[in-house]
Amino acid sequence: MSTPVEKIKERLNIVDLLGTYLKLEKAGKNMKARCPFHNEKTPSFFVSPDRDSYYCFGCGKKGDIFTFVQEFEGVDFFGALKMLAERTGVVLERGNFDKKDDKEAIFNALEAATQFFESNLPKSSSAQKYLEKRGLTEKTIKDWRIGFVSDDWRTLYDYLSARKFTDSEIEQAGLIKRNETRQDSFYDRFRGRIMFPIRDSVGRVVGFSGRILPENDDGKSAKYLNSPETAVFNKSRLLYGFDLAKLAIKKFDYAVIVEGQMDIIMCHQAGFQNVVATSGTALTPEHLTLLRRISNRVIMAFDADKAGFNAATKAWQLALSLGMEVKIAEFKEGKDPAEVILGTEGKEKFKEALKESMHIIDFYLSKILSEGLDERKLGKEIQEKLLPFLALIESSIEKSHWVKKIADKCHISEVAIWEDLKKVKVEASPTGAETKSPAFRETATVGKIDSIEKRILGIINWQEKDSEKIIDIKMTKERVKEIIGEEDFKKWQRVTEQVLNEATFEAEQYYEKKKLQGVLDELLMELEKEYITKELAKAKTPQEQNDLIKRLAKLK
Ligand code: UTP
Ligand code: MN
Repeated sequence: MSTPVEKIKERLNIVDLLGTYLKLEKAGKNMKARCPFHNEKTPSFFVSPDRDSYYCFGCGKKGDIFTFVQEFEGVDFFGALKMLAERTGVVLERGNFDKKDDKEAIFNALEAATQFFESNLPKSSSAQKYLEKRGLTEKTIKDWRIGFVSDDWRTLYDYLSARKFTDSEIEQAGLIKRNETRQDSFYDRFRGRIMFPIRDSVGRVVGFSGRILPENDDGKSAKYLNSPETAVFNKSRLLYGFDLAKLAIKKFDYAVIVEGQMDIIMCHQAGFQNVVATSGTALTPEHLTLLRRISNRVIMAFDADKAGFNAATKAWQLALSLGMEVKIAEFKEGKDPAEVILGTEGKEKFKEALKESMHIIDFYLSKILSEGLDERKLGKEIQEKLLPFLALIESSIEKSHWVKKIADKCHISEVAIWEDLKKVKVEASPTGAETKSPAFRETATVGKIDSIEKRILGIINWQEKDSEKIIDIKMTKERVKEIIGEEDFKKWQRVTEQVLNEATFEAEQYYEKKKLQGVLDELLMELEKEYITKELAKAKTPQEQNDLIKRLAKLK
Protein backbone atom coordinates (compact mmCIF):
# COMPACT_ATOMS: atom_id res chain seq x y z
CA MET A 1 0.00 0.00 0.00
CA SER A 2 1.42 3.29 -0.91
CA THR A 3 1.24 6.49 1.08
CA PRO A 4 -0.98 9.43 0.06
CA VAL A 5 2.12 11.30 -1.03
CA GLU A 6 3.18 8.48 -3.34
CA LYS A 7 -0.31 8.16 -4.79
CA ILE A 8 -0.45 11.85 -5.56
CA LYS A 9 3.00 11.78 -7.13
CA GLU A 10 2.00 8.84 -9.32
CA ARG A 11 -0.88 10.82 -10.75
CA LEU A 12 0.70 14.23 -11.04
CA ASN A 13 4.19 14.71 -12.37
CA ILE A 14 6.25 17.67 -11.38
CA VAL A 15 6.47 19.16 -14.88
CA ASP A 16 2.69 19.23 -15.28
CA LEU A 17 2.13 20.84 -11.93
CA LEU A 18 4.89 23.43 -12.12
CA GLY A 19 3.88 24.16 -15.68
CA THR A 20 0.63 25.60 -14.38
CA TYR A 21 2.57 28.06 -12.23
CA LEU A 22 5.62 28.85 -14.35
CA LYS A 23 6.62 29.24 -17.96
CA LEU A 24 8.81 26.17 -18.47
CA GLU A 25 11.27 25.79 -21.33
CA LYS A 26 13.03 22.66 -22.45
CA ALA A 27 16.63 22.26 -21.32
CA GLY A 28 17.86 18.85 -22.44
CA LYS A 29 16.21 16.19 -20.32
CA ASN A 30 15.03 18.83 -17.90
CA MET A 31 12.91 21.95 -17.97
CA LYS A 32 13.91 25.38 -16.79
CA ALA A 33 12.19 28.59 -15.79
CA ARG A 34 12.82 31.87 -14.08
CA CYS A 35 12.87 31.09 -10.39
CA PRO A 36 9.62 32.02 -8.62
CA PHE A 37 11.44 32.30 -5.30
CA HIS A 38 13.94 34.97 -6.16
CA ASN A 39 14.19 37.78 -8.66
CA GLU A 40 16.18 36.88 -11.76
CA LYS A 41 16.37 37.65 -15.43
CA THR A 42 17.77 34.42 -16.82
CA PRO A 43 16.37 31.04 -15.78
CA SER A 44 18.30 29.09 -13.18
CA PHE A 45 15.38 27.13 -11.80
CA PHE A 46 15.52 23.53 -13.10
CA VAL A 47 12.83 20.89 -13.00
CA SER A 48 13.85 17.26 -13.35
CA PRO A 49 11.10 14.86 -14.39
CA ASP A 50 13.35 11.86 -13.70
CA ARG A 51 14.10 12.85 -10.17
CA ASP A 52 10.67 14.32 -9.64
CA SER A 53 12.20 17.42 -8.11
CA TYR A 54 13.25 21.00 -8.73
CA TYR A 55 16.40 22.88 -7.91
CA CYS A 56 17.37 26.51 -8.29
CA PHE A 57 21.04 27.18 -8.93
CA GLY A 58 20.47 30.81 -8.05
CA CYS A 59 18.95 30.61 -4.60
CA GLY A 60 19.35 26.95 -3.71
CA LYS A 61 15.64 26.24 -3.27
CA LYS A 62 14.87 22.60 -3.94
CA GLY A 63 12.14 20.07 -3.33
CA ASP A 64 9.16 18.20 -4.72
CA ILE A 65 5.60 19.12 -5.67
CA PHE A 66 4.64 19.36 -2.00
CA THR A 67 7.37 21.75 -0.96
CA PHE A 68 6.71 23.75 -4.09
CA VAL A 69 3.05 24.25 -3.26
CA GLN A 70 3.92 25.08 0.34
CA GLU A 71 6.40 27.74 -0.68
CA PHE A 72 4.44 29.12 -3.53
CA GLU A 73 1.00 29.17 -1.95
CA GLY A 74 2.23 29.99 1.52
CA VAL A 75 0.43 27.02 3.05
CA ASP A 76 1.65 24.35 5.46
CA PHE A 77 2.14 20.72 4.55
CA PHE A 78 -1.47 19.92 5.38
CA GLY A 79 -2.72 22.64 3.05
CA ALA A 80 -0.51 21.40 0.22
CA LEU A 81 -1.57 17.80 0.77
CA LYS A 82 -5.20 18.79 0.66
CA MET A 83 -4.86 20.88 -2.48
CA LEU A 84 -2.92 18.25 -4.35
CA ALA A 85 -5.21 15.45 -3.20
CA GLU A 86 -8.19 17.37 -4.53
CA ARG A 87 -6.43 18.03 -7.78
CA THR A 88 -5.49 14.40 -8.36
CA GLY A 89 -8.63 12.83 -6.91
CA VAL A 90 -6.68 10.97 -4.25
CA VAL A 91 -8.93 10.32 -1.29
CA LEU A 92 -7.30 11.05 2.03
CA GLU A 93 -8.11 8.70 4.87
CA ARG A 94 -10.37 10.21 7.42
CA GLY A 95 -8.40 9.43 10.60
CA ASN A 96 -5.94 12.26 10.15
CA PHE A 97 -8.47 14.80 9.12
CA ASP A 98 -11.46 14.33 11.39
CA LYS A 99 -10.96 17.54 13.28
CA LYS A 100 -10.13 19.62 10.26
CA ASP A 101 -13.07 18.36 8.25
CA ASP A 102 -15.53 20.13 10.55
CA LYS A 103 -14.42 23.22 8.79
CA GLU A 104 -15.78 22.03 5.48
CA ALA A 105 -19.35 23.12 6.23
CA ILE A 106 -18.16 26.50 7.43
CA PHE A 107 -16.16 27.07 4.27
CA ASN A 108 -19.17 26.09 2.19
CA ALA A 109 -21.48 28.47 4.05
CA LEU A 110 -19.01 31.31 3.59
CA GLU A 111 -18.71 30.59 -0.12
CA ALA A 112 -22.49 30.51 -0.52
CA ALA A 113 -22.75 33.81 1.37
CA THR A 114 -20.17 35.36 -0.93
CA GLN A 115 -22.21 34.36 -3.96
CA PHE A 116 -25.35 35.73 -2.35
CA PHE A 117 -23.70 39.10 -1.65
CA GLU A 118 -22.24 39.22 -5.16
CA SER A 119 -25.63 38.58 -6.70
CA ASN A 120 -27.16 41.42 -4.63
CA LEU A 121 -24.83 44.09 -5.88
CA PRO A 122 -26.39 44.62 -9.34
CA LYS A 123 -29.75 45.05 -7.60
CA SER A 124 -28.67 48.03 -5.54
CA SER A 125 -28.04 51.15 -7.53
CA SER A 126 -26.91 53.10 -4.48
CA ALA A 127 -24.29 50.48 -3.59
CA GLN A 128 -23.05 50.48 -7.16
CA LYS A 129 -22.95 54.25 -7.23
CA TYR A 130 -20.99 54.32 -4.01
CA LEU A 131 -18.33 51.95 -5.36
CA GLU A 132 -18.13 53.93 -8.54
CA LYS A 133 -17.62 57.11 -6.58
CA ARG A 134 -14.77 55.45 -4.69
CA GLY A 135 -13.17 54.72 -8.07
CA LEU A 136 -13.56 50.95 -8.29
CA THR A 137 -13.86 49.46 -11.77
CA GLU A 138 -16.15 46.61 -12.65
CA LYS A 139 -13.21 44.28 -13.09
CA THR A 140 -11.94 45.12 -9.62
CA ILE A 141 -15.36 44.46 -8.12
CA LYS A 142 -15.40 41.08 -9.82
CA ASP A 143 -11.82 40.14 -8.94
CA TRP A 144 -12.30 40.99 -5.27
CA ARG A 145 -15.80 39.50 -5.25
CA ILE A 146 -17.26 42.61 -3.66
CA GLY A 147 -20.95 42.32 -2.86
CA PHE A 148 -23.80 43.93 -1.01
CA VAL A 149 -26.39 43.04 1.58
CA SER A 150 -29.57 45.05 2.00
CA ASP A 151 -30.63 46.57 5.29
CA ASP A 152 -32.99 43.79 6.33
CA TRP A 153 -32.93 41.45 9.29
CA ARG A 154 -32.36 38.04 7.77
CA THR A 155 -31.97 37.89 4.00
CA LEU A 156 -28.74 35.89 4.22
CA TYR A 157 -30.09 33.63 6.94
CA ASP A 158 -33.10 32.77 4.78
CA TYR A 159 -30.91 32.21 1.73
CA LEU A 160 -28.55 29.82 3.52
CA SER A 161 -31.33 28.00 5.37
CA ALA A 162 -33.06 27.34 2.07
CA ARG A 163 -29.80 25.79 0.92
CA LYS A 164 -29.82 23.33 3.81
CA PHE A 165 -27.19 24.95 5.99
CA THR A 166 -28.00 24.36 9.65
CA ASP A 167 -28.34 27.19 12.18
CA SER A 168 -25.24 25.94 13.90
CA GLU A 169 -23.19 25.98 10.69
CA ILE A 170 -24.29 29.50 9.80
CA GLU A 171 -23.57 30.65 13.33
CA GLN A 172 -20.15 29.00 13.37
CA ALA A 173 -19.35 30.77 10.12
CA GLY A 174 -19.93 34.03 11.99
CA LEU A 175 -22.74 35.13 9.71
CA ILE A 176 -25.65 35.39 12.14
CA LYS A 177 -26.26 36.42 15.70
CA ARG A 178 -28.56 34.91 18.24
CA ASN A 179 -31.47 36.98 19.43
CA GLU A 180 -30.88 37.83 23.07
CA THR A 181 -34.46 37.47 24.19
CA ARG A 182 -35.51 34.61 21.97
CA GLN A 183 -32.60 32.19 21.90
CA ASP A 184 -33.99 30.15 19.02
CA SER A 185 -34.18 33.05 16.63
CA PHE A 186 -31.37 34.55 14.61
CA TYR A 187 -30.64 37.67 12.61
CA ASP A 188 -27.94 38.57 10.08
CA ARG A 189 -24.72 40.01 11.46
CA PHE A 190 -24.16 42.10 8.31
CA ARG A 191 -26.94 44.41 7.18
CA GLY A 192 -26.97 47.39 4.81
CA ARG A 193 -23.31 47.01 3.95
CA ILE A 194 -20.89 46.69 1.06
CA MET A 195 -19.39 43.25 1.59
CA PHE A 196 -15.70 42.46 1.16
CA PRO A 197 -14.96 38.74 1.38
CA ILE A 198 -11.72 37.98 3.18
CA ARG A 199 -9.81 35.07 1.69
CA ASP A 200 -7.02 32.91 3.00
CA SER A 201 -3.75 32.34 1.21
CA VAL A 202 -5.23 29.82 -1.19
CA GLY A 203 -8.29 31.91 -1.96
CA ARG A 204 -10.98 30.35 0.21
CA VAL A 205 -13.38 32.84 1.81
CA VAL A 206 -12.89 32.76 5.58
CA GLY A 207 -14.75 35.88 6.67
CA PHE A 208 -16.07 39.29 5.71
CA SER A 209 -15.59 42.94 6.32
CA GLY A 210 -18.68 45.04 5.66
CA ARG A 211 -18.60 48.78 5.07
CA ILE A 212 -21.68 50.70 5.94
CA LEU A 213 -23.33 52.54 3.07
CA PRO A 214 -23.47 56.24 3.98
CA GLU A 215 -27.26 56.25 3.52
CA ASN A 216 -27.65 53.42 6.06
CA ASP A 217 -25.37 55.06 8.59
CA ASP A 218 -27.27 56.02 11.71
CA GLY A 219 -24.09 57.39 13.25
CA LYS A 220 -24.09 54.64 15.85
CA SER A 221 -22.79 51.71 13.79
CA ALA A 222 -19.15 50.94 13.11
CA LYS A 223 -17.91 52.07 9.71
CA TYR A 224 -16.52 48.62 9.06
CA LEU A 225 -17.92 45.51 10.67
CA ASN A 226 -15.77 42.39 10.61
CA SER A 227 -16.48 38.70 11.02
CA PRO A 228 -15.80 37.44 14.53
CA GLU A 229 -13.00 34.97 15.14
CA THR A 230 -14.16 31.56 13.95
CA ALA A 231 -12.61 28.16 13.35
CA VAL A 232 -11.44 29.42 9.97
CA PHE A 233 -10.91 33.15 10.59
CA ASN A 234 -8.07 34.42 12.70
CA LYS A 235 -7.55 38.14 12.29
CA SER A 236 -4.10 38.27 13.73
CA ARG A 237 -2.90 35.73 11.22
CA LEU A 238 -4.77 36.77 8.15
CA LEU A 239 -3.61 39.33 5.66
CA TYR A 240 -6.28 40.66 3.37
CA GLY A 241 -5.34 40.21 -0.27
CA PHE A 242 -2.44 37.86 0.41
CA ASP A 243 -3.82 35.35 -2.10
CA LEU A 244 -3.72 37.98 -4.85
CA ALA A 245 -0.49 39.60 -3.76
CA LYS A 246 1.85 36.73 -2.97
CA LEU A 247 3.14 36.24 -6.51
CA ALA A 248 4.04 39.89 -6.89
CA ILE A 249 5.57 40.02 -3.41
CA LYS A 250 7.82 37.17 -4.39
CA LYS A 251 8.67 38.74 -7.69
CA PHE A 252 9.55 42.19 -6.38
CA ASP A 253 10.91 40.78 -3.16
CA TYR A 254 9.04 43.17 -0.92
CA ALA A 255 5.54 43.63 0.43
CA VAL A 256 3.65 46.83 1.01
CA ILE A 257 1.30 46.76 3.99
CA VAL A 258 -1.68 49.09 4.18
CA GLU A 259 -4.42 49.41 6.74
CA GLY A 260 -7.72 49.27 4.96
CA GLN A 261 -9.87 47.38 2.46
CA MET A 262 -10.25 50.32 0.13
CA ASP A 263 -6.56 51.09 0.33
CA ILE A 264 -5.38 47.69 -0.79
CA ILE A 265 -8.00 47.37 -3.49
CA MET A 266 -7.15 50.75 -4.99
CA CYS A 267 -3.45 49.86 -4.90
CA HIS A 268 -4.03 46.65 -6.81
CA GLN A 269 -6.28 48.40 -9.28
CA ALA A 270 -3.53 50.92 -9.92
CA GLY A 271 -1.12 48.08 -10.65
CA PHE A 272 0.66 47.79 -7.29
CA GLN A 273 0.08 44.14 -6.76
CA ASN A 274 2.50 43.40 -3.96
CA VAL A 275 0.20 45.08 -1.45
CA VAL A 276 -1.57 43.38 1.46
CA ALA A 277 -3.73 44.79 4.25
CA THR A 278 -4.46 44.03 7.83
CA SER A 279 -8.16 43.59 8.43
CA GLY A 280 -9.74 44.94 11.58
CA THR A 281 -6.58 44.64 13.67
CA ALA A 282 -3.10 46.09 14.00
CA LEU A 283 -0.21 44.32 12.33
CA THR A 284 0.90 41.35 14.42
CA PRO A 285 4.03 39.20 14.62
CA GLU A 286 1.95 36.43 13.04
CA HIS A 287 1.31 38.55 9.97
CA LEU A 288 5.00 39.09 9.55
CA THR A 289 5.70 35.41 9.96
CA LEU A 290 3.44 34.76 7.02
CA LEU A 291 5.03 37.46 4.87
CA ARG A 292 8.52 36.41 5.76
CA ARG A 293 8.00 33.11 4.03
CA ILE A 294 8.13 34.92 0.74
CA SER A 295 10.10 38.09 1.34
CA ASN A 296 12.27 39.65 3.99
CA ARG A 297 11.37 43.22 3.14
CA VAL A 298 8.27 45.22 3.98
CA ILE A 299 7.15 48.78 3.48
CA MET A 300 4.45 50.06 5.78
CA ALA A 301 2.16 52.52 4.09
CA PHE A 302 0.34 53.53 7.26
CA ASP A 303 -0.52 56.85 8.62
CA ALA A 304 2.27 56.90 11.17
CA ASP A 305 0.34 59.22 13.45
CA LYS A 306 -2.52 56.81 13.79
CA ALA A 307 -3.12 54.31 16.52
CA GLY A 308 -2.57 51.36 14.22
CA PHE A 309 1.04 52.27 13.76
CA ASN A 310 1.85 52.34 17.44
CA ALA A 311 -0.15 49.21 18.07
CA ALA A 312 2.20 47.39 15.73
CA THR A 313 5.28 47.91 17.91
CA LYS A 314 5.54 44.22 18.72
CA ALA A 315 5.55 43.44 15.03
CA TRP A 316 8.35 45.96 14.38
CA GLN A 317 10.38 44.44 17.13
CA LEU A 318 10.00 40.99 15.70
CA ALA A 319 10.88 42.22 12.22
CA LEU A 320 14.06 43.88 13.38
CA SER A 321 15.20 40.96 15.48
CA LEU A 322 14.67 38.61 12.55
CA GLY A 323 16.78 40.81 10.35
CA MET A 324 13.84 41.89 8.18
CA GLU A 325 14.06 45.21 6.45
CA VAL A 326 11.23 47.50 7.54
CA LYS A 327 10.56 50.80 5.85
CA ILE A 328 7.86 53.38 6.41
CA ALA A 329 6.17 55.26 3.57
CA GLU A 330 4.45 58.50 4.41
CA PHE A 331 1.77 60.33 2.48
CA LYS A 332 1.42 64.04 2.44
CA GLU A 333 -1.57 65.88 3.89
CA GLY A 334 -2.54 62.90 6.02
CA LYS A 335 -4.11 61.09 3.12
CA ASP A 336 -4.50 57.31 3.02
CA PRO A 337 -3.35 55.26 0.01
CA ALA A 338 -6.85 55.05 -1.49
CA GLU A 339 -7.17 58.82 -1.46
CA VAL A 340 -3.69 59.32 -2.87
CA ILE A 341 -4.31 56.97 -5.77
CA LEU A 342 -7.68 58.47 -6.60
CA GLY A 343 -6.21 62.00 -6.67
CA THR A 344 -4.42 63.63 -9.60
CA GLU A 345 -1.28 61.79 -10.64
CA GLY A 346 -2.18 59.30 -7.94
CA LYS A 347 -0.09 56.44 -9.25
CA GLU A 348 3.03 58.57 -9.51
CA LYS A 349 2.52 59.99 -6.05
CA PHE A 350 2.10 56.54 -4.57
CA LYS A 351 5.19 55.29 -6.32
CA GLU A 352 7.13 58.28 -5.08
CA ALA A 353 6.06 57.65 -1.51
CA LEU A 354 7.33 54.07 -1.79
CA LYS A 355 10.59 55.24 -3.26
CA GLU A 356 11.09 57.73 -0.49
CA SER A 357 10.18 55.30 2.26
CA MET A 358 12.53 55.37 5.21
CA HIS A 359 14.07 52.61 7.27
CA ILE A 360 12.18 52.43 10.54
CA ILE A 361 15.21 53.51 12.59
CA ASP A 362 15.72 56.47 10.26
CA PHE A 363 12.05 57.24 10.48
CA TYR A 364 12.04 57.37 14.29
CA LEU A 365 15.26 59.32 14.28
CA SER A 366 13.94 62.02 12.01
CA LYS A 367 10.74 62.18 14.01
CA ILE A 368 12.66 62.76 17.20
CA LEU A 369 14.91 65.30 15.50
CA SER A 370 11.94 67.23 14.14
CA GLU A 371 10.77 67.93 17.68
CA GLY A 372 13.58 70.48 18.12
CA LEU A 373 14.60 69.31 21.59
CA ASP A 374 17.52 70.62 23.60
CA GLU A 375 20.61 68.47 23.93
CA ARG A 376 19.68 66.75 27.16
CA LYS A 377 16.12 65.93 26.15
CA LEU A 378 17.25 64.75 22.75
CA GLY A 379 19.66 62.29 24.36
CA LYS A 380 16.89 61.02 26.58
CA GLU A 381 14.48 60.53 23.70
CA ILE A 382 17.11 58.65 21.71
CA GLN A 383 17.78 56.42 24.65
CA GLU A 384 14.17 55.72 25.44
CA LYS A 385 12.55 55.57 22.02
CA LEU A 386 15.24 54.62 19.57
CA LEU A 387 17.83 52.44 21.26
CA PRO A 388 15.34 49.74 22.28
CA PHE A 389 14.69 49.16 18.57
CA LEU A 390 18.33 49.33 17.65
CA ALA A 391 19.19 46.80 20.33
CA LEU A 392 17.08 44.22 18.56
CA ILE A 393 19.16 44.25 15.41
CA GLU A 394 21.48 41.30 15.52
CA SER A 395 23.96 42.27 12.86
CA SER A 396 26.82 44.29 14.35
CA ILE A 397 27.56 45.80 10.98
CA GLU A 398 24.06 47.14 10.67
CA LYS A 399 24.04 48.27 14.25
CA SER A 400 27.23 50.24 13.87
CA HIS A 401 25.87 51.87 10.74
CA TRP A 402 22.99 53.23 12.78
CA VAL A 403 25.11 54.21 15.75
CA LYS A 404 27.26 56.26 13.41
CA LYS A 405 24.27 57.91 11.85
CA ILE A 406 22.65 58.77 15.16
CA ALA A 407 25.94 60.13 16.46
CA ASP A 408 26.29 62.27 13.37
CA LYS A 409 22.81 63.69 13.34
CA CYS A 410 22.49 64.28 17.06
CA HIS A 411 26.06 65.33 17.79
CA ILE A 412 26.48 62.65 20.41
CA SER A 413 29.68 60.59 20.51
CA GLU A 414 29.52 57.07 19.11
CA VAL A 415 31.10 55.71 22.27
CA ALA A 416 28.32 57.16 24.38
CA ILE A 417 25.67 55.57 22.18
CA TRP A 418 27.37 52.19 22.32
CA GLU A 419 27.54 52.50 26.11
CA ASP A 420 23.84 53.27 26.35
CA LEU A 421 23.00 50.57 23.88
CA LYS A 422 24.64 48.02 26.15
CA LYS A 423 22.36 49.10 28.97
CA VAL A 424 19.17 48.52 26.98
CA LYS A 425 17.44 45.45 28.25
CA VAL A 426 16.03 43.54 25.36
CA GLU A 427 12.75 42.71 26.96
CA ALA A 428 10.97 39.54 25.96
CA SER A 429 13.42 38.91 23.19
CA PRO A 430 11.49 37.38 20.31
CA THR A 431 13.89 34.48 20.21
CA GLY A 432 13.93 34.05 23.98
CA ALA A 433 12.21 31.14 25.64
CA GLU A 434 9.81 33.12 27.80
CA THR A 435 8.13 34.99 24.99
CA LYS A 436 4.39 34.66 25.13
CA SER A 437 3.31 34.95 21.53
CA PRO A 438 3.29 31.58 19.78
CA ALA A 439 4.29 33.21 16.51
CA PHE A 440 7.51 34.40 18.08
CA ARG A 441 8.41 30.93 19.10
CA GLU A 442 7.32 29.41 15.83
CA THR A 443 9.42 31.76 13.77
CA ALA A 444 12.41 31.35 16.00
CA THR A 445 12.48 27.60 15.71
CA VAL A 446 11.02 26.87 12.31
CA GLY A 447 13.36 29.40 10.80
CA LYS A 448 16.28 27.44 12.05
CA ILE A 449 15.19 23.91 11.52
CA ASP A 450 15.21 23.17 7.84
CA SER A 451 13.43 20.53 5.89
CA ILE A 452 15.85 17.63 6.24
CA GLU A 453 16.06 18.00 9.98
CA LYS A 454 12.32 18.31 10.12
CA ARG A 455 11.86 15.08 8.20
CA ILE A 456 14.22 13.20 10.52
CA LEU A 457 12.54 14.66 13.57
CA GLY A 458 9.17 13.57 12.20
CA ILE A 459 10.35 10.02 11.64
CA ILE A 460 11.78 9.74 15.14
CA ASN A 461 8.67 11.08 16.78
CA TRP A 462 6.43 8.86 14.71
CA GLN A 463 8.50 5.83 15.64
CA GLU A 464 8.59 6.77 19.30
CA LYS A 465 4.82 6.55 19.44
CA ASP A 466 4.59 3.43 17.28
CA SER A 467 4.62 -0.02 18.85
CA GLU A 468 6.32 -1.46 15.81
CA LYS A 469 9.86 -0.13 15.89
CA ILE A 470 11.65 -0.16 12.56
CA ILE A 471 14.56 2.08 13.45
CA ASP A 472 16.88 2.38 16.43
CA ILE A 473 15.73 5.66 17.93
CA LYS A 474 18.56 6.13 20.38
CA MET A 475 21.22 5.53 17.79
CA THR A 476 19.55 7.83 15.32
CA LYS A 477 19.52 10.64 17.85
CA GLU A 478 23.20 10.08 18.62
CA ARG A 479 23.98 10.23 14.94
CA VAL A 480 22.08 13.49 14.51
CA LYS A 481 23.93 14.96 17.48
CA GLU A 482 27.23 13.92 15.94
CA ILE A 483 26.36 15.62 12.67
CA ILE A 484 24.83 18.87 13.82
CA GLY A 485 26.74 19.34 17.07
CA GLU A 486 25.72 19.68 20.69
CA GLU A 487 24.37 23.21 20.41
CA ASP A 488 22.12 22.76 17.41
CA PHE A 489 21.00 19.44 18.80
CA LYS A 490 19.69 21.18 21.91
CA LYS A 491 17.74 23.62 19.77
CA TRP A 492 16.47 20.71 17.75
CA GLN A 493 15.01 19.08 20.83
CA ARG A 494 13.25 22.26 21.85
CA VAL A 495 10.98 22.67 18.84
CA THR A 496 7.40 23.47 19.64
CA GLU A 497 4.60 20.97 19.88
CA GLN A 498 3.15 22.38 16.69
CA VAL A 499 6.31 21.91 14.68
CA LEU A 500 6.69 18.42 16.06
CA ASN A 501 3.13 17.46 15.18
CA GLU A 502 3.50 18.86 11.73
CA ALA A 503 6.76 17.00 11.19
CA THR A 504 5.27 13.74 12.39
CA PHE A 505 2.18 14.11 10.27
CA GLU A 506 4.31 14.93 7.27
CA ALA A 507 6.52 11.88 7.78
CA GLU A 508 3.49 9.61 8.06
CA GLN A 509 2.13 10.90 4.78
CA TYR A 510 5.44 10.69 2.98
CA TYR A 511 7.00 7.38 3.94
CA GLU A 512 6.05 3.78 3.99
CA LYS A 513 6.89 2.28 7.32
CA LYS A 514 8.70 -0.72 5.86
CA LYS A 515 11.16 1.50 4.03
CA LEU A 516 11.91 3.82 6.91
CA GLN A 517 15.47 2.67 7.60
CA GLY A 518 16.56 3.32 4.03
CA VAL A 519 14.87 6.71 3.97
CA LEU A 520 16.48 7.64 7.26
CA ASP A 521 19.98 6.66 6.11
CA GLU A 522 19.59 8.84 3.07
CA LEU A 523 18.29 11.78 5.08
CA LEU A 524 21.17 11.51 7.55
CA MET A 525 23.63 11.57 4.70
CA GLU A 526 21.94 14.65 3.20
CA LEU A 527 22.05 16.32 6.56
CA GLU A 528 25.74 15.64 6.94
CA LYS A 529 26.42 17.03 3.48
CA GLU A 530 24.57 20.20 4.34
CA TYR A 531 26.39 20.70 7.59
CA ILE A 532 29.81 20.12 6.05
CA THR A 533 28.97 22.55 3.27
CA LYS A 534 28.00 25.13 5.85
CA GLU A 535 31.27 24.62 7.71
CA LEU A 536 33.16 24.86 4.49
CA ALA A 537 31.77 28.32 3.96
CA LYS A 538 33.14 29.30 7.36
CA ALA A 539 36.48 27.49 7.15
CA LYS A 540 39.46 29.78 7.44
CA THR A 541 42.61 27.82 6.65
CA PRO A 542 43.27 25.80 3.49
CA GLN A 543 43.93 22.82 5.75
CA GLU A 544 40.46 23.06 7.28
CA GLN A 545 38.95 23.42 3.83
CA ASN A 546 40.78 20.39 2.50
CA ASP A 547 39.67 18.20 5.37
CA LEU A 548 36.08 19.19 4.87
CA ILE A 549 36.22 18.66 1.13
CA LYS A 550 37.60 15.17 1.72
CA ARG A 551 34.78 14.36 4.09
CA LEU A 552 32.29 15.66 1.59
CA ALA A 553 33.77 13.60 -1.23
CA LYS A 554 33.38 10.44 0.82
CA LEU A 555 29.68 11.04 1.15
CA LYS A 556 28.95 11.48 -2.52
P1 UTP B 1 -10.26 53.88 8.43
O1 UTP B 1 -11.18 54.48 9.42
O2 UTP B 1 -8.96 54.52 8.13
O3 UTP B 1 -11.11 53.69 7.14
O4 UTP B 1 -10.00 52.39 8.89
P2 UTP B 1 -10.72 53.64 5.61
O5 UTP B 1 -9.99 52.40 5.29
O6 UTP B 1 -10.12 54.93 5.19
O7 UTP B 1 -12.16 53.45 5.06
P3 UTP B 1 -12.93 54.27 3.96
O8 UTP B 1 -11.89 54.76 3.02
O9 UTP B 1 -13.65 55.36 4.67
O10 UTP B 1 -13.87 53.28 3.37
C1 UTP B 1 -8.98 51.58 8.39
C2 UTP B 1 -9.36 50.15 8.49
O11 UTP B 1 -9.64 49.80 9.82
C3 UTP B 1 -10.67 48.85 9.90
C4 UTP B 1 -11.06 48.53 8.47
O12 UTP B 1 -10.34 47.37 8.03
C5 UTP B 1 -10.61 49.76 7.72
O13 UTP B 1 -10.38 49.52 6.36
N1 UTP B 1 -11.86 49.38 10.60
C6 UTP B 1 -12.18 50.71 10.56
C7 UTP B 1 -12.66 48.53 11.29
O14 UTP B 1 -12.39 47.31 11.34
N2 UTP B 1 -13.79 49.01 11.92
C8 UTP B 1 -14.13 50.30 11.87
O15 UTP B 1 -15.16 50.69 12.44
C9 UTP B 1 -13.30 51.18 11.18
MN1 MN C 1 -10.06 55.74 3.32
